[in-house]
Amino acid sequence: MGRVAVVTGGTRGIGYAVTQRLKADGMQVAALYGGNDEAAMRCRDELGVLVLKCDVAESLECRAVLGEIESLLGPVEVLVNNAGVTRDASLHKMNDNDWDRVIRVDLNGLYNMTRPVIGGMRDRGFGRIVNIASINGQKGQFGQTNYSAAKAGVIGFTKALALETARKGVTVNAVAPGYIDTDMVAHVPQDVLETIKADIPVGRLGRPDEVARCVAFLAADEQGFITGSTLTVNGGQYMV
Ligand code: CAA
Repeated sequence: MGRVAVVTGGTRGIGYAVTQRLKADGMQVAALYGGNDEAAMRCRDELGVLVLKCDVAESLECRAVLGEIESLLGPVEVLVNNAGVTRDASLHKMNDNDWDRVIRVDLNGLYNMTRPVIGGMRDRGFGRIVNIASINGQKGQFGQTNYSAAKAGVIGFTKALALETARKGVTVNAVAPGYIDTDMVAHVPQDVLETIKADIPVGRLGRPDEVARCVAFLAADEQGFITGSTLTVNGGQYMV
């Protein structure tokens, strides 16, 4: 049996591509989703993976769903923290809910999902954690103080946890996508998106599968010496 992998936000967009890719690599994948039941059922039918509802902002839900996965598939060995939301607005127009929701899902979600599984990974001497950050956590983005702060936090979390687990066979890395052809990017106003696209040296949006193969690379058994790193996948839009 392949490794047990959990992908949050794993039924749509980049997460769907990651679920598909890890399954193709032989893993037993559980894809978690926050609210879109229709997309989730489609993912389950198309990919034949375990699909469970879980709002990563809610720590009790995370603990419960991880317990369920463990009893159905076994201990979690690979965790991909992909779930993320945007609530774009300039700070002078942002409301408390826009701030809270993004921090709670995009940043607190990492704690809520990782805290319950990290002890087991350490005890067993193996784990692969891949966190989805963003170009906008690296460079900042007009209208995204909430999202840029959360995604910069994802990178800090990644580095700190990588240090704590380096001797325990657990690697912790981040992948920082640029603008990828997903629903999230489709919500950016068309005129704004055109200026963003003009800024991408490769000359197009990225594809979810191009991010998924980076996640799979970092999640592989053979990959034990990269930890604490951030792999940027942004068509050359921002070079770090
Ligand atoms: N840089 C500088 N000035 C900018 C600007 C920018 N990037 N964008 C807008 N402005 C200017 C406008 O030209 C306008 O100037 P004037 O007042 O002189 O005309 C002014 O700022 C408008 O400011 P407002 O605060 O009134 O902005 P708004 O309410 O009209 O809209 C916004 C702001 C909602 C943030 C809108 O600009 C927007 O949606 N931007 C896209 C943000 C974005 O890229 N989000 C990424 C989502 S995808 C994602 O996050 C995935 C990932 O990881 C990459």
